Amino acid sequence: MSADETDAGGELPPSLPDAAKEHAALAEEIRAHDRRYYQHDAPTVSDAEYDALRRRLNALEAAFPDLVTADSPSQTVGAAPSEAFAKVRHAVPMLSLGNAFAEAEVTEFLARVRRFLQMKPEDELRVTAEPKIDGLSASLRYEKGLFVRGATRGDGAVGEDVTQNLRTIDDVPERLTGGDVPEVLEVRGEVYMSHADFRALNERQVEAGKPVFANPRNAAAGSLRQLDPKVTAGRPIRFFAYAWGEASATPAETQSAMVGNLGRWGFAINPLMKVFDDAEGLLGHYRAIEAERAKLGYDIDGVVYKVDRLDLQRRLGFVSRTPRWAIAHKFPAEQATTVLEAIDIQVGRTGSLTPVAKLKPVTVGGVVVQNATLHNEDEIARKDVRVGDTVVVQRAGDVIPQIVRVVDPDRTGRGPAFEFPTVCPACGSH
Ligand code: IVH
Repeated sequence: MSADETDAGGELPPSLPDAAKEHAALAEEIRAHDRRYYQHDAPTVSDAEYDALRRRLNALEAAFPDLVTADSPSQTVGAAPSEAFAKVRHAVPMLSLGNAFAEAEVTEFLARVRRFLQMKPEDELRVTAEPKIDGLSASLRYEKGLFVRGATRGDGAVGEDVTQNLRTIDDVPERLTGGDVPEVLEVRGEVYMSHADFRALNERQVEAGKPVFANPRNAAAGSLRQLDPKVTAGRPIRFFAYAWGEASATPAETQSAMVGNLGRWGFAINPLMKVFDDAEGLLGHYRAIEAERAKLGYDIDGVVYKVDRLDLQRRLGFVSRTPRWAIAHKFPAEQATTVLEAIDIQVGRTGSLTPVAKLKPVTVGGVVVQNATLHNEDEIARKDVRVGDTVVVQRAGDVIPQIVRVVDPDRTGRGPAFEFPTVCPACGSH
């Protein structure tokens, strides 16, 4: 889609108010077409009709420059894809979290916080618990309620400018709604892909003869870090907001209230965040989330605990690159080892061939697994998986189990490398 400045499409309105009215209606119409075109691959007008709308919008803005706001379609879509990502320095660094693996480390975290704050045993310490989303973090900058720039985490200090790609995500509002939106607000959260969308995307990749993604996280990252925003727009990625960076105001006294604000301002926030006042509560919620894990429909790899009061967070501060007021309680990896007994070739509807690992049955994360995907020929070669090998199997959520690696690739007496068939096992053709 493109539009030039010629043919303004009739006489221009006589005054700014008239022009503003026409401009607002046009902008809305163009945005609706953009959503259908970029996000749903389903335009309802011809390119020529679309171009005429854009030309009219450009003409109005040329005559009334006050109409050029950051969220005008003239500023937001149709931009040529950049050659490479520009770099963005985060106004507030994007940090990572310390990890806890055992329940004792969670109790120790609470004790550490209490000691640092010199709290008495009877003083209340409220802490939030929420899923740790397994995606990639992004920072979205809003000025006067408008989305102006978005970046990946990068090295924490400098990320990549993926503004146009983030704009294609339904969960990323172009404009914040609701009261007391801060003048400047950097919203932080996780870009991820649901299991269902991941499976459908990989099916499309196979049908198109393109490489498949190993897991939803890789698929989300690969989709966000595309040079052409149109490719990102065709990818079903989502965003959960759970934190903030630079903020001219934080109209809340607690983490949970501020995240509530993010929801009120238009973001998707995770419904499983809860506040507790002791370790039993936190650990109970951890176990409840772990039990729900396979049913959530997206990957999580633990539970994050955060001191709820923002004044206490400020007092606690940071140690090296992690906050003293938060910790990630990781789930044990859903992995097990077993023997690869055979590699079968499955023939898809479209004639695509998918290798499937036949395993000696093994329980992984509470479920008996005897099949795992090997994706394609390249994947087998890359991992050098051979019949008879002992392999690590991984099962995350309800995603099809995968072979992670061969346990002892250097052992003697291994079978021959797997040879992918050159004729179709179903019909015998090449
Ligand atoms: S809070 C200052 N909350 O985990 C701490 N992080 O290991 C800000 N993550 O880089 C992070 N879910 O990408 C937070 N609910 C959650 C999260 C979460 C996933 C990621 C995030 C961060 C990494 C740290």
